[in-house]
Amino acid sequence: MRHMPSHLTPRYLRCEYRENPLGIDVTLPRLSWIVESSRRGDKQTAYQILVSSTPKKLDAEEGDLWDSGKVPSNETIQVVYAGKRLASRTRGWWKVRVWDKKAKVSAWSEPALWTMGLLADGDWQAEWIGYDEPLKAAADKRELARAKQGEKPPADDLVLPPPRYLRREFRLQRPIARATLYATALGLYEIHINGRRASEDYFTPGWTDYNKRVYYNTYDVTPLVRRGENAIGAVLADGWYAGHIGWGHKRDHYGSKTRLRAQLEVEYTDGTKETIATRRSWRASVGPLLEADFLMGESYDARREVPGWDTPGFDDSGWAGPNVTSGVSAQVQPYPGVTVQRFAEHKPVSVTEPRKGAYVLDLGTNLAGFARLKVKGRAGQKIVLRFAERLNPDGTIYTTNLRGARATDTYICRGGGKEEIWEPRFTFHGFQYVEVTGYPGKPGPDAITAIEITSATPPAGEFRCSNGMANRLYANIRQTQRANFIDIPTDCPQRDERMGWMGDAQIYIRTAACNSDVAAFFTKWLVDVEDAQNPDGSYPHVAPRKVAEGGGAAAWADAGIICPWAIYQVYGDKRVLERHYGAMQHFIEYCETNSKGLLRPAEGFGEWLSIQADTPQDVLATAYFAHSTALMARIAEVLGKRDDAAKYRGLFERIREAFNKAYVGADGRIRGETQAVYVMALAFDLLSPEKREIAARRLVADIESRGWHLSTGFVGTKDLMPVLTDAGRVDVAYRLFHNDTFPSWGFSIKQGATSIWERWDGWTPEKGFQDPGMNSFAHYAFGAVGQWMFETIGGIKTQGPAYESIVIRPRPGGKLNWAVVRHESIRGMIATDWKTKDGKLFLNVTIPANTTAKVYVPASSADGVLESGKPAAKAEGVRFLRVEDGAAVYEAASGSYRFEAPLPLDVSRK
Ligand code: BGC
Repeated sequence: MRHMPSHLTPRYLRCEYRENPLGIDVTLPRLSWIVESSRRGDKQTAYQILVSSTPKKLDAEEGDLWDSGKVPSNETIQVVYAGKRLASRTRGWWKVRVWDKKAKVSAWSEPALWTMGLLADGDWQAEWIGYDEPLKAAADKRELARAKQGEKPPADDLVLPPPRYLRREFRLQRPIARATLYATALGLYEIHINGRRASEDYFTPGWTDYNKRVYYNTYDVTPLVRRGENAIGAVLADGWYAGHIGWGHKRDHYGSKTRLRAQLEVEYTDGTKETIATRRSWRASVGPLLEADFLMGESYDARREVPGWDTPGFDDSGWAGPNVTSGVSAQVQPYPGVTVQRFAEHKPVSVTEPRKGAYVLDLGTNLAGFARLKVKGRAGQKIVLRFAERLNPDGTIYTTNLRGARATDTYICRGGGKEEIWEPRFTFHGFQYVEVTGYPGKPGPDAITAIEITSATPPAGEFRCSNGMANRLYANIRQTQRANFIDIPTDCPQRDERMGWMGDAQIYIRTAACNSDVAAFFTKWLVDVEDAQNPDGSYPHVAPRKVAEGGGAAAWADAGIICPWAIYQVYGDKRVLERHYGAMQHFIEYCETNSKGLLRPAEGFGEWLSIQADTPQDVLATAYFAHSTALMARIAEVLGKRDDAAKYRGLFERIREAFNKAYVGADGRIRGETQAVYVMALAFDLLSPEKREIAARRLVADIESRGWHLSTGFVGTKDLMPVLTDAGRVDVAYRLFHNDTFPSWGFSIKQGATSIWERWDGWTPEKGFQDPGMNSFAHYAFGAVGQWMFETIGGIKTQGPAYESIVIRPRPGGKLNWAVVRHESIRGMIATDWKTKDGKLFLNVTIPANTTAKVYVPASSADGVLESGKPAAKAEGVRFLRVEDGAAVYEAASGSYRFEAPLPLDVSRK
């Protein structure tokens, strides 16, 4: 961990959740920072923010855009800018200083920056340009193939037009102060300036409902331009706009004609300006990229490379004029999310040759990304890469679970005796194995390197403990999160799906937030969710809404309420609640209208992928209706809408009553009698106190009757472990946690899992692979146990929104004798680190400055509890509250603590 400064110090400045964001359109942006101190109980008592239009002014402490003055407040997050009106292109250099509890002022923080984007339509001079000729050629090719084959569809019945290359040259006359690029596309774009890529981002401008909204990105490209001759070029690919999405081999989901809109604004040192924008004057062609598609893969013929196309002095007289489209009706807005970037490189751990000439390289982990190829081949030599998550028993790659995703990349060598290096730009695969055919000889250790990509959400979590399988499970959770956070939260990265399934997202969101800062990522996706809402108020199954049309499915549609609430809980974000409030209300109305006597119908996906248990769908649906309504009441309250809050509370009570009447017997049995029904009834507070007890007992009895195994699917697994823990059966939760027999988390790990499987029985020794119709090895839903690992093993939980008040309650148990868990919250690092030794528990706790915590030290009495070697109750910053449920409870101010206590018997026995 970072070394803590000795005085209250502000750092990690963020604007709208991001560090130094460029081109935002939020005219009242929210600013956040953290304060750090090595002293206990340090508090911010006031802050001052300066925002200046130039770094010089900021340096001179001249806040010409905003000087907040000294504001008496302990707030460090979501502080709303209240300075001058922010116009297009305004640059806001800012810093903050804070006063501590003794009214001593800190030094100014390091400066940070945000810039405003193009706020008015008139700011855009660029036109939407593309090149349609190659599209026609690709379609004609397929028609020809079809005609030749008669009725039978040809083997490769795909339209995969080549990405288009667009370019133009320009002259910059005077010394340059700054160059800013604004770029967007219907499709995917990659911009080059003078031979270099303008950004490291992948798959820009991201996936939206392009009929309604398309995002642009802003980049500072000052280092790339120069006085004199310059060239700007772009590669434009199909992506989500025109390429294949989901099942059914369908493309052109939003349109077929890809378009680029880019504007390079150059400011000279003398204050004058020049704008280079996409227009009719650009030139268009195709290049070495023959195909580029998310699901199908990428093909590249190095013999067709066009040297110099993105540098000045290139002869483009043979290139065509572009097609220009006017009247794109989608709103063009700044990208509010987290772009996809490279995350890591992985070298093969083994190479085999299960079929003559087909080499299989194992990359050691099941990731999302692509392969970089290194080869020395003859001109025209064709090397084919195929991708898979698992192997067949004979060692060949298992691809049947990819369904309609071809997931194949092809490289055709330039030749000439030199080493060639290639990696794709507009596709990704979910894989652990790469099959290489056509390679000259056996691929050496450098022939293939896996490049892992993910939306670059800042890491925010760490989990380590004394149990190897638990550590593997945590690594698998992280891996699967990265593999599925690709611009939106997807279901899986490998098969012909990769969509924003709502159920998966709501089930996993809290675990995601333990691992990474997902605030901006979900802020973006929640707009996709609202854009995808059906006119009847039902939320969709997937957002953006494509392929899996329809909506309203219980536990899936409910993500429209659960996810904003989660973002509020973790980040204290009221705006996200405000922004989507109307849509949420509409959804509750939809549920009410579409239920009978407040029982929500047996529709949707139910307790998806549960194992040997049949949860009645209407019980699940009604439980979720109640849950969403209860959250709605709390949301209304947070927003100060008292009448609404009362209305939703009343509705919740009535749904609860209907639920009990219809599904809960006098003896406490809940219809279906599955683990899931008891879990939901307990998690969503649907039962009277006596029935709660019965439900907990029945839940445990069912687990026991299965030899201590779970039977839950996506929905039940989310709340299973917290419910057991809250019901006083953390011992049972640990049993499930450590299980390695089927079905369990450990079972997949015993089978070599490096990621979270979609199904408990994705592969079993008896049956082999499950139905390839739906058998992904990288779905995060069952990884939702991660939240329990943070909150129960690490014992780190927020009480109320945004970790201002923290509960520290680690539960040593199971096979564990130590654990280190850290969470970088929006207010700073929270850490616990415990071990049991010689009948004692040692617990180190760190609580961020400016927050407080209730610390539960496992102990049967407070007598023997020490802090830094002295009686805890007397320690600085600590106040003893009570003994409760096997723990001595303290109120602790911020800071670092070292507790020590004799272990309660029930823990030391394990
Ligand atoms: C997806 C899921 C999704 C489910 C809904 C599947 O095909 O991969 O993760 O939630 O459909 O039934």
